[in-house]
Amino acid sequence: MSIKAIVLAAGAGTRMKSPYPKVVASVAGRALVNWVLDALSGVDVTETVVVVGSGADRVQAILPPGIRSALQERQLGTGHAVQVGLASLTPSSGDHIMVLPGDTPLLTSETLANLLDAHRRTGSAATCLTAKVPDPTGYGRILRDGWDHVTGIVEHKDATPAQLEVDEINGGVYVFDAELLAEALTEVRADNAQGELYLTDVLAILGVAGHSISAHCTNAAELAGVNSQDQLADAAKLIRQRMNTEAMQAGVWMQDPTSVYLDADVTIEAGARIQANVHLVDGTSVGAGAEVGPDVFAAGSNIGPNAKVWYSVLRGAEVGEAVEVGPFASLRPGAVLESGAKAGTFVELKNTTVGPGAKVPHLAYIGDTDIGAKANVGAGTITCNYDGYDKFRTVIGEGAFVGSNTMLVAPVEIGKNAVTGAGSVIVDDVEEDALGIGRSRQENVAGYAARRRQTAENPLSDQSTS
Ligand code: UD1
Ligand code: MG
Repeated sequence: MSIKAIVLAAGAGTRMKSPYPKVVASVAGRALVNWVLDALSGVDVTETVVVVGSGADRVQAILPPGIRSALQERQLGTGHAVQVGLASLTPSSGDHIMVLPGDTPLLTSETLANLLDAHRRTGSAATCLTAKVPDPTGYGRILRDGWDHVTGIVEHKDATPAQLEVDEINGGVYVFDAELLAEALTEVRADNAQGELYLTDVLAILGVAGHSISAHCTNAAELAGVNSQDQLADAAKLIRQRMNTEAMQAGVWMQDPTSVYLDADVTIEAGARIQANVHLVDGTSVGAGAEVGPDVFAAGSNIGPNAKVWYSVLRGAEVGEAVEVGPFASLRPGAVLESGAKAGTFVELKNTTVGPGAKVPHLAYIGDTDIGAKANVGAGTITCNYDGYDKFRTVIGEGAFVGSNTMLVAPVEIGKNAVTGAGSVIVDDVEEDALGIGRSRQENVAGYAARRRQTAENPLSDQSTS
């Protein structure tokens, strides 16, 4: 039996009250429709098409490479969307079609495989995925006869009070015999509360024509559909729980998994420790033995083994082995800390390499800079890398010691093992082993403070005699 798939993603998602098409809404950094496609990729389907319509360009733009789409120009209902999808699939005899909604991100490959098995086993013309739920509000209800056979599906808005009592809901996922589906769809009418061509009507049409239809009941959490912002937040919470549990089962320690927010493309090695309030997004990776948090946001960054990152923001940063970051560091794109390096309290790094064992421990802005191994950059150091028009590089040699509150006016180079005097404005290169000092010389005025004190205490005294 060859299985082809149609994913429905053309609806506007009016109930989201968002300017974007619903199925591009993101959960853990992945669009709703891509969660569905991800589940689908784990089962044996020979061809897949995504039906797009509302905001088609935006939906097409986020589909994984190689996934085909078909355009439903007007959103006349799920039944019509399936007709559009069918027309774009290559028909072959004996095909069965799996239909999936694009707004149920919790579906798993395992459940889809079980649905296919049930469909094969019963040899039904149609099998739908259902679940019993405590609150079926908004979902289509599964109708059964006195022998418990499925007779059809009624939408919430069209249901009688008695039908509203049914707690078995339609998950919106089905497998159909392709030919029977196409035939039945021609009989679907828009004579319902929403004036739409409902795919759900196909079940009763097939049943009345004498074909067997069945239901495969699964766990309710997977069928949660996202139709509104609060349902989006609920789905995100469930997915977060699922991902964090998987990470912990794989050997990651989490202080409080309810406050850990991971994107689906994040990797954390066993033995890493994640404290509270941590957001890891956009392909961030964490190595074994690293400690991340509390309070870290890291996007597109790699945190190496045994590194410690706390109370900090990382964007496009490479944090090497046993590096220390924070508290209160901001690592911007191109910040690279090699093994054993440090970016400490209130330190901002941008497009800067900090060599092995080199340290920027406190209060600094270092941009467009190469810092050599074991160099030390004192508190208050700033690279003046921008003259209002262009950016320039600073080089700090291996083992150099940059004194506190040094202004490094780029382009400038501090040689290997060189030193700069605290408070210097360094505009010229400092050669290897030299001291660069650029500040006005201190002058002491003897007796000045005593004279001031005397004037303050005896304002009427004759100052000319003092
Ligand atoms: C649908 C089912 C309902 C089920 C629920 C499960 C119908 C009529 N109802 O209701 O029984 O309980 O899913 O989540 O099928 N779409 C299109 N083109 C259209 C209309 C919709 O592609 O013309 C797409 C939407 O983008 C969405 C999916 O089909 O991804 C389902 O549409 P939606 O409006 O969310 O249907 P529900 O009201 O949730
Ligand atoms: Mg829906």
